[in-house]
Parts: sequence; C-alpha cells; structure tokens
Amino acid sequence: MVVKINENYLKLKNSYLFVEVARREAEFVENNPDADVIKMGIGDVTKPLTPTIVKAFKDAVDEMGNADTFMGYGPEQGYEFLAKAIAKDYEQYGVNLDTSEIFISDGAKCDTGNIQEIFGIDNKIAVTDPVYTVYVDTNVMAGRTGEMEDGMYEGLVYLKCNTENGFVPELPSEPVDIIYLCYPNNPTGTTLTKDQLKVFVDYAKENKSIILFDAAYQAFINEDNVPHTIYEIEGAEEVAIEFRSFSKTAGFTGTRCAFTVVPKQLMAYDEEANEVEVNPLWNRRQTTKFNGVSYPVQKAAEAMYTEEGKKEIKEIIDYYMENAKVIRDSLTDLGLEVYGGVSSPYIWVKAPNDMDSWAFFDLLLNEANVVGTPGSGFGPSGEGYLRLTAFNTLENTKEAMARISKLEF
Ligand code: MLT
Repeated sequence: MVVKINENYLKLKNSYLFVEVARREAEFVENNPDADVIKMGIGDVTKPLTPTIVKAFKDAVDEMGNADTFMGYGPEQGYEFLAKAIAKDYEQYGVNLDTSEIFISDGAKCDTGNIQEIFGIDNKIAVTDPVYTVYVDTNVMAGRTGEMEDGMYEGLVYLKCNTENGFVPELPSEPVDIIYLCYPNNPTGTTLTKDQLKVFVDYAKENKSIILFDAAYQAFINEDNVPHTIYEIEGAEEVAIEFRSFSKTAGFTGTRCAFTVVPKQLMAYDEEANEVEVNPLWNRRQTTKFNGVSYPVQKAAEAMYTEEGKKEIKEIIDYYMENAKVIRDSLTDLGLEVYGGVSSPYIWVKAPNDMDSWAFFDLLLNEANVVGTPGSGFGPSGEGYLRLTAFNTLENTKEAMARISKLEF
C-alpha cells in the first residue's frame, strides 16, 4: 500500500500566480540589492488600520485579558454584534438581511474557495476570463475539471471579457449551474451596471443556476449605476451568494475578516430534483470546519461601521483612488490602452507593441523596478495585459509612473 495523493492537484499550474510574481521579484532583489522596487503587484494595502478601528481592537484585547470579560470560542458564524452592523449597512441599498444569512469569516479568498464544497461535483461551472484564479483552482482541486489546455481547464465554461465586449461577459452559450462573477472586477478593474448584472440574475432564475458574486471591491465604486451588492437586483436573493471583505475596504489584509451572505431563499436541488436550502449547508460546513474569527478582530471590524470609522475608511479609499487616477492618467498620456481604475483599485493596461504579459512584467521590473501582475496569469484573455494596483503610497505611485514614462517601448 502507498499513500495516494489527490491527483487533481497535479492538474494545477506549478504555483499560485502571486507566488510566481513574488519569486521573480525576490530573484531580482537578490541580484540587485540596491534597487528601490515599487510593488504594484498583489492587491495588498499599505495604509494602516484607522484610529477608531485600532481603539476597538485594543479595547477588545484588554477584555480578553480580564477574567470578567474574557471570551473563549465564539459562534462559528460570527458574533451577532458584527452581523447586525453588516445588516444595517446593507439597508442603505434597500436590502434587508437577517443576521442568520451572514457568515463572518477570515477571508473572501477562503470563502470563495470553500463554497464549491457544498455543491455537487457534476455541476457545470462558468467563470469569466480573465478570472481571479482562486475560483478556478479550487474547482480543479475538487475534481470538477479535466486537464488544462491552452490556458483553460477542460470542463469549465469561460466567459471572455475583452475590448470587443467592453469587458462585459456574455451569457454562457451552454447551460451552466454555477457562475462566478467578481464586480468591480479583479483583475480588469471594470464594472457591470445594474442592467448588465440583471441579465445574469435573470439567467440564473430562468436556468435554476446560482451566482457566486464576489463583491470584495464594492467600497471603491464611484459610479452611480454600478450596484454595490447583487441584492440590489430584484430576485437576486433567490439565486446569489455574495462575498464581501474588510481586507481592501478597511486595511484588514493582515488582520483577516470577511463575510458571506447566503440568503434563506436560495435553493439548490438534490438527486430527485427536490429543493434544498443552501443556507443550512453552508452553516453545516462552517460549524464543522471553522471556529470563527477572533473576538478582537470582529470588534475591530464592527468599528468600521461607526460614523467616525466610516469617515476614516472613506479618506483611505479616496487616497487609493487618487493613486488609481494618477496611474490611469499617466499611462493614458503615454499612449497606452488603460481600463479599470474608476470604481476599482485595479488598472488593466495593454502591453505596448504586442508584448506578452510576462515580457511586459519583466520589462517593468528590470527597467523601472516596478512590480505588476501579468494578465496572462488570470487566464488566456489576460494575455498581453498587465494589472497594476493603486494600493501603494501616492509618492511611490508617482515615482513608478515617472520611471515608466522614461521607458522606450
Ligand atoms: C489580488 O491581488 O488579486 C488580491 O490581493 C488577491 C486576494 O485578495 O486574495
């Protein structure tokens, strides 16, 4: 007898995209120890937690250090105080959630990766192309795909997003059961209007499909007709799960806090085509495999919803969006094709002279000491593009643009 591995892992590309980006960056730094590298690759924030959040965090730590207020295990689904604050926040969009529909977790990456577990292995999955790779890789690991060919896994349906369709995916041309959508989009930084998103909600209703809607970047929306939550679209609560995160919104990439909304009305089907509520399945999964987010972290997240907290967060988001504007304007002035960056911290730039993504990545790294993320890492339609993030400081963002503008393309 020998130990057998999960063969599905062998279908995966060698490393997670950001691991490969970090590897190339580390290699460059090792060979060029004096280079001042500006990181605009992974979407990691640079601004610290705000004072209101830090105070709540510290106060909660003090509570943990006092026998009278100490907390042990919390609810796996998260504390009611945070779920209530989240539900209240949704009210501004005309959305009424019960706190039992909100599951607090340690990340939208984990939740968007784990959610597929509660659905059958035979479901047909659609993803956009380019795509946040977690949706794809977790379905590969689970065994829902064949091998990868030409950058696409056999068995998945890819909805192309490119300049021809204005980065608005078309409906799947074959029936699908589950559709992953991320808007504002990672990686392209583009958005869907309410009408464009409604097309998908209507499709899901008609076809009894489920939309897994990643809204991790909703706080960056600056356009009126772009929905902040899929539940702004009528009937979406019957067909959609929504993922939200405090990471980019409130600087929690290292602190870890997020949540997932699984509406009570959302149904899937058993082998006999009987309706089954999805909410209890996710609850079952979380209570078995997850022990909740720490109390101080949830108190810190709750502070984001206070008047002062909201004000502080908005200032930071405006700061990042000013960076996004600097990037957009500078690259546009250089004659490059630029997308995103209006309602998103991501800017999607077409590499000049038909360069491929990794060649453009290497050029920027070697000649400007600027790290981006190669678009091809997000899927075949990303080939020839590079993603830059607005999460650095304004000074570094300007410096990066000044360096890039000196390059000869
Ligand atoms: C990204 O750069 O795409 C994100 O940081 C990834 C993530 O949030 O996991």
